[in-house]
Amino acid sequence: MLKYDSKYMFSPKIKEKAIKKEDLFDFKKNGFKDSLTFRKLIYDDTSKIKEIGNRIKSKFSTYVVVGIGGSDLGSRTIESAISTKNGLEVKFIGENTDPDEIADFFKGIDLKSTIFNIVSKSGETVEIIANFLYIKNIIYSSLGNKGVSENIVITTSSPGSTLHKLSQEYDINVIEGVADVGDRFSVLSVIGLLTAHVLGCDIDKFLEGARSIDDKTNSNSPNENDALMFAELNYLSFQNLGKNISVLMPYSQNLRNFGFWYRQLWAESLGKKLSNSGDIVHFGLTPVASVGSTDQHSQIQLYNEGPNDKIITFIEVDKFKNDLEIKALDSLVSYLNGKTFSDIIHTERLATSISLMENGISNGTLHIDEITEFSLGELFYFFELAVSYIGDFANINTFDQPGVEKGKEYMYSMLLKPGFEEQKKHLDEIINENI
Ligand code: PA5
Repeated sequence: MLKYDSKYMFSPKIKEKAIKKEDLFDFKKNGFKDSLTFRKLIYDDTSKIKEIGNRIKSKFSTYVVVGIGGSDLGSRTIESAISTKNGLEVKFIGENTDPDEIADFFKGIDLKSTIFNIVSKSGETVEIIANFLYIKNIIYSSLGNKGVSENIVITTSSPGSTLHKLSQEYDINVIEGVADVGDRFSVLSVIGLLTAHVLGCDIDKFLEGARSIDDKTNSNSPNENDALMFAELNYLSFQNLGKNISVLMPYSQNLRNFGFWYRQLWAESLGKKLSNSGDIVHFGLTPVASVGSTDQHSQIQLYNEGPNDKIITFIEVDKFKNDLEIKALDSLVSYLNGKTFSDIIHTERLATSISLMENGISNGTLHIDEITEFSLGELFYFFELAVSYIGDFANINTFDQPGVEKGKEYMYSMLLKPGFEEQKKHLDEIINENI
């Protein structure tokens, strides 16, 4: 079971930069849990996802996710975290419009045995539309119209969107996404779970893990609800102590991508200019995705001796799938004899945590038993919940992302998309301005 060890957030050694236990508060907001639209996903029936996944598995050997942001990061996290896969090979393209990456990607693809799932909640994202058009043309050239309609599927929640219309034009099947849940909160739906099923995972276990965290939210006390404790500590560190950086550092290579998933969830949900009452607040702790032990040799110097403006959270995997013993008979290295790689990685995490604490840097550790479907479900839901609590404490809208829109409008106007003529005029003035 996931556990949050927050001891070193309160240590007296952290002095004036530590949170005081008396600042913690009970969270009593009627209807909060029911207002979380992503919550209903974890009680959903998964048979439809399995049915679609089984059809895909029976016909293809490679499954490619073509998505960006919340339509991509959850699937990537699952693919890299779960190592005991017995399903299809899963690949990713579409999170960028880097032509070199795309050209190289197709050099290693056997189109006939590959299905491309074009995932876009809005059905309007330019990176995904561009990738879709490129993929469609490649498939058409070698497999014709039949290939286009059989080797591509589109997942979207937006009927009437550009991608949806294109699906009708090219006779491509559409998988229905989730309508009222934001992309970055959608990993525990068809968006992440179809990838998981195709990989050969037990998708119900993800939801079981998430539900075990949800059960704890019946308590309003941070001492009984770890996600609430974690949220309060982050929020109070920002409000009371001016810490505005949140570092997540799993000590696990397989959880490296979890850091990228967390980074989007945290940044888009919590970085907000306006409060719900319309006041300018510029709220947000900048998320940093780090990985141990690698970043001990890259980032820890800064975390330990740079500005004391961070709250650091480690993820410890209590039991790894493999345990490799080291034989070290040479006297120079005999201290390692009989130790395992897990002994070393656990020791590194603990040593780093203590050295930071002694230096006055608050840090906490999330423990998971092993990396499994269940514990990934716990982790995903823990962070979705924690982010929702923090947004609520800060009185901001956790679920929108207005700061992303302006850049998108400018890009569309520069690419001459119809409907953006006004923005184009405005941009031309700026670009030609003589400063
Ligand atoms: O959180 C968000 O809404 C965004 O970052 C999206 O994940 C990203 O823009 C992709 O959107 P879509 O799935 O609509 O293509």
